[in-house]
Amino acid sequence: MASVQEDTVPCDFPRFDEDRDGFSPGVFPPGFLWGAATSAFQIEGACSEDGKGPSMTDTWFNRTPRALDGTTAEVTCDSYHRYREDVRILSELGVSHYRFSLSWPRLFPDGTRDSLNPDGVRYYNSLIDELRAHNIVPFVTLYHWDMPQALMDKYRGWLNEALVGLFNDYARFCFSEFGNRVKHWVTFNEPWSEIVIGSKGILSETVGKQGKRGVYAAGRTVLKAHAAAWHTYDREFRAKQGGQVGLALSCTWGEPKDPQNADDVAAAERFFDFNVGWFAHPFFVNGDYPDVMKDYVMKRSMADGQATSCLPEFSTEEKALLKGSADFLGVNYYTARLVSTRAGRDASGPGEDMLGEDDADVHVEMNPDWPVAGLPFISIVSWGLRKVLNLVRDRYQVPLIYVTENGYHEEHKGELQYDMKDARRSCYHAAHINELRKAMTLDGVNVQGYTVWCLMDNFEWFFGHTQKMGLYHVDFTDPERKRVPKESAGFYRDVIKHNGFPD
Ligand code: NOJ
Repeated sequence: MASVQEDTVPCDFPRFDEDRDGFSPGVFPPGFLWGAATSAFQIEGACSEDGKGPSMTDTWFNRTPRALDGTTAEVTCDSYHRYREDVRILSELGVSHYRFSLSWPRLFPDGTRDSLNPDGVRYYNSLIDELRAHNIVPFVTLYHWDMPQALMDKYRGWLNEALVGLFNDYARFCFSEFGNRVKHWVTFNEPWSEIVIGSKGILSETVGKQGKRGVYAAGRTVLKAHAAAWHTYDREFRAKQGGQVGLALSCTWGEPKDPQNADDVAAAERFFDFNVGWFAHPFFVNGDYPDVMKDYVMKRSMADGQATSCLPEFSTEEKALLKGSADFLGVNYYTARLVSTRAGRDASGPGEDMLGEDDADVHVEMNPDWPVAGLPFISIVSWGLRKVLNLVRDRYQVPLIYVTENGYHEEHKGELQYDMKDARRSCYHAAHINELRKAMTLDGVNVQGYTVWCLMDNFEWFFGHTQKMGLYHVDFTDPERKRVPKESAGFYRDVIKHNGFPD
């Protein structure tokens, strides 16, 4: 197929690693889902329109502009008013599914069922119906970080176990209202990112104030909330609706710095267990955290003079509820890191504490030899995706996987031409789709879908509009917010049309 050949898409980094089975052309199984993703806060705008309540992200990013470029998400892509345009471009791409999220405070302005906002319900019904009218499967995330502000004020969010019931009420409502048309549900998007990264920013006054105990306590509430929602679906909706409920995790690959060194290999495994296993092991393995996580947090807590481990336990009943309560794992994959043992290293030395170095007792760093994307801390390591897919299948026995995010970060240089001619984005996707295919065909991993982050340029959290990740360009100075296809949109359209890379 022409568009992946070297000569038509110039690429300044190796796409098809010859030492790792090289290029594996071929088509994907029939029915394989090809899609694109967004999230409510990043694209909808209309933050306080038609009865929507404030979210914690509105408060954090909109009340005082905090993004790098001083922009807010008050309008962003204006998808609340322009969702038909979104469906039009999805249809132009030829995707089989669209992953988007529902805004909890647009549906329940104060976070509870009592505050139900009919305009919010109408909006999502219209979006879902429009998608289906274009033969696009809605792949719906219930929570992509936009907690109703009222629940932050009243409960401090995930720090309070009351959130398990409140999230379950919200999930039940969504299953009952939209579930006749939505068969793919992601309860939580990247809880690790929300809680661990958030504890230094948006959650600094709540979770962050309580240090590690706060981080692990919030994680525990999310784990229980997911399980509660899955059981609700299983008990009340599955028989009639026949859908699937899973969650999406941020899956950074940890490569042992010295693969011959057993300590580095063990460190890389711990790194993954602390990042991914924390939220996968309880559901897919035994209702509990990975053993290594329990051991290391205990050891570290004792060393810090704590009387008990900072990682709160689950009761026997809770473990029984957690175990088996996910139908699939959504893999969000962007990048990889080198991981090594910390032994003999100054614990306060350079490293990336954000990636769980401390409790996992590992050292995490970038590999200067790996190419980087437009964001300097995103190394391009496509073979890491294949490793992640194998690992979650092998270590957590995940029976079904969707790649729910994979995308290329590009710094906005202010020149339209530069934004539109995004050959590196096409290369990035070609490389990752090739690794995905090898995971499926050579390693037998059961992956049933691939989703590009992102359908269109949008509000990239702290980076505001300085990071462009879309297949479509959006000019944020244009009141119409016109969506214009970049070169990569054409590349992806070809991949979808051919269902892969036919010989
Ligand atoms: C992860 C998040 O789910 C999404 O919101 C974010 O924009 C992308 N990664 C890109 O950084």
